[in-house]
Amino acid sequence: MPVTELSYIGLLSSDRDGWASILSEIVGMQRIPDAQPRTDYYRMDERDYRIFVETSETDHLGVVGWGVNSMEALDALSERIAAAGVVVDEGAADLIAQRGARAIRCFTDPEGYKVELAYAPPATEAPFASGRPISGFKTGELGMGHVVLHCAKYRENVSFYHKVLGFRISDYIVWADADATFMRCNPRHHSLALLNESLGMESGALNHIMFEMKSLADVGRAYDLVLDRKYPIIMTLGQHSNDKATSFYFVAPGGVGIEIGWNGVTIDNESEWQVAKYDSTKLWGHRMD
Ligand SMILES: [Fe+2]
Repeated sequence: MPVTELSYIGLLSSDRDGWASILSEIVGMQRIPDAQPRTDYYRMDERDYRIFVETSETDHLGVVGWGVNSMEALDALSERIAAAGVVVDEGAADLIAQRGARAIRCFTDPEGYKVELAYAPPATEAPFASGRPISGFKTGELGMGHVVLHCAKYRENVSFYHKVLGFRISDYIVWADADATFMRCNPRHHSLALLNESLGMESGALNHIMFEMKSLADVGRAYDLVLDRKYPIIMTLGQHSNDKATSFYFVAPGGVGIEIGWNGVTIDNESEWQVAKYDSTKLWGHRMD
């Protein structure tokens, strides 16, 4: 598979301080303030960063960064994308330096989301220092977590990620007015889910980002902190039907959903995996009222 992981996410926000409280004090990331002008970087593991938040007048998703593990993979994938009729730009030198990457390719997916492909092995040897005491994030070969995006051109965008970028389909969930496809690029059940315009959200909307903890206690303590600080809850603690993760969801600046989870399944034997279609996202909990 050419894309190997969800490598990083860039956010634009009018409330960098709000993000700082959530990402470092609640989620437990390490904040690297002002590493670039008006931008905070956040570490979750041995990587230089996994999230960056740049000051902006409006709140929205800046870029989704997908990782590849060689220059050859980067070039091969870029050729496939270009052959599909999507313009691929070589990242400028200052962007490559900003990202701490060896090389970057930039394009816009059929829906209009900005995407970067990055070959960016870790550059720092400084150990990860969590923002609060946690057992840590489940990352490594599984990447930083998952991202879920709404699409007006839902089928077209699913086809692009599946057929051009090489993501594999894990399963589908169709519920209420929502139709979602869950896709993987490594053993994590899904690094990307795309869904139609639904649940009151339109094209361009980042439904949520998921971070997976190494222990249920880390999720529980984050839940306590979210309740104590009265952040709006999107869904209470519950368990998903498809990836079996136990998680909860709350609202970050700009209406972005944050899911903090534990124990999602990994697909270690590709040949045995059966693609299923579910009619509910949950086994229990995940209440919205
Ligand atoms: Fe999720």
